[in-house]
Amino acid sequence: MLVARRTLAVLISVAAVTGIATSGASATSAAAGKSYTAAQVKAHSTPSNCWVILKNGVYNMTAFSKSHSGGAAVIEPVCGKDGTKAFLGQHSSTATAKYATLNQYRIGTLKK
Ligand code: HEM
Repeated sequence: MLVARRTLAVLISVAAVTGIATSGASATSAAAGKSYTAAQVKAHSTPSNCWVILKNGVYNMTAFSKSHSGGAAVIEPVCGKDGTKAFLGQHSSTATAKYATLNQYRIGTLKK
């Protein structure tokens, strides 16, 4: 039983990770109805106005980048762009805490 419960917990955290903050924290509900095109995101491509696409989500990383443990300098190149590769390539996919953090900065979904 304990093993089954642990397995379930692992499955749930994997689902949370692969969806990249598609559910959960408050910012998601605030951003639920909003969607932006890649061109709109591109208009926010400076460190002081930095939107980033991560999978199907759009995140305003302007305030966050200064407190990023990996440094602001690694977020700057993906301002206005799709940062999925940079993000997934650098973070452990089992550390769910960062996805909760990310959720706080979600402003909408990517319009395809
Ligand atoms: C070369 C690129 C990057 C490096 C070296 C890097 C490095 C790091 C490190 C060392 C941490 C702390 C440990 C951890 O949670 O894994 C971290 C956390 C985090 N990073 Fe990155 N990162 C990179 C790119 C990005 C990008 C592109 C984003 C988003 C646009 C991002 C968002 C985050 C978030 C949300 C956290 C969690 C912060 C927290 O909850 O305290 N990172 N990163």
